[in-house]
Amino acid sequence: MTNNSPNTWQHLSSDWINWADRLAPAAEKINRHMIEAADLETLARLRGDAPLDVLDLASGVGEPAFSFARALAAPTGETATGGGAANDAGPANSNDVSANTPHPSGHVTASDIVPEMCDGLAARAEEEGIANISVIPADMENLPFSDHSFDVVSCRFGVMFCNDPDRALRESHRVLRPGGRAVYMVWAPMVDNPLFAAMDAVLGNILGIGFDQAGLDPFSFGNIDQSMDRMETAGFTGITATTHSPAGRIPEKVAFWKPQMDMLFGNVLRDASDMDRGAIDAAMFETLSPYIEDGHFQVPICFHVLSGKRA
Ligand SMILES: C[S@@+](CC[C@H](N)C(=O)[O-])C[C@H]1O[C@@H](n2cnc3c(N)ncnc32)[C@H](O)[C@@H]1O
Repeated sequence: MTNNSPNTWQHLSSDWINWADRLAPAAEKINRHMIEAADLETLARLRGDAPLDVLDLASGVGEPAFSFARALAAPTGETATGGGAANDAGPANSNDVSANTPHPSGHVTASDIVPEMCDGLAARAEEEGIANISVIPADMENLPFSDHSFDVVSCRFGVMFCNDPDRALRESHRVLRPGGRAVYMVWAPMVDNPLFAAMDAVLGNILGIGFDQAGLDPFSFGNIDQSMDRMETAGFTGITATTHSPAGRIPEKVAFWKPQMDMLFGNVLRDASDMDRGAIDAAMFETLSPYIEDGHFQVPICFHVLSGKRA
């Protein structure tokens, strides 16, 4: 049984807010794959270097909205590039084409169906001093935006949680300007994500609640070919997909599964006894111990980045 109910996320928003700052450096690293896939430089050229409008869907408390906003912020502490004395003098390094490439700029509209997530995101953006971002609660299956409003639509680990993901894909396509691009980061199958497989098995054994029982289906875009077909059916062209499997290196004494576990099952864990929580940690360590090398966990995560254009 999966229902991907927004209520589930509402009860998890405090867990997302709690972990967000500590997870931000790791988030920034994987978000760059989405920024590359969006190809902001080409879009900016297409728009005559006008500022780009990005819509991030199911933003939670800020990812990848913050990364896109940083990528599109006006550069600070840099001499303006393009034209003038820099051109007259010629580039210091003839391979350095970036010296003559204007930095794409723009604004990010972040959104999520859960207002508490949006509030957390707004507070974090203010703390971080990110100026080129605004936040609006929005259901990605029924977007409150006109056709042709955005140059980029992004969504990290969100589309699979919609009740009707195909409707959400069509909505993304609708709000894109011609030539604009949608980029989705989606989980690869559970078998390629040992952390999630361990969580599902351990919580299922000890609390009787795995992904199915929690009403969460993170892996429904795991099959690349099927996911690309879904994008095509929604109207996208020039569809691309890449797969990434980074593995962190975390000292074995660190219960590194806690953030993900809280952010997906925090509402259930809050009611668990101390004894159950201890048993969960022991079983997670045991299940993931084959990934310990040199005193460090090296557990890969695996995800796809799908992108498609509106013709
Ligand atoms: C796994 S979290 C991902 C959050 C963020 N993008 C990230 O990667 O850190 C999934 C998010 O999708 C949101 N969500 C679920 N269904 C949604 C819908 N129909 N429209 C918009 N957001 C939705 C949830 O509220 C939650 O914040």
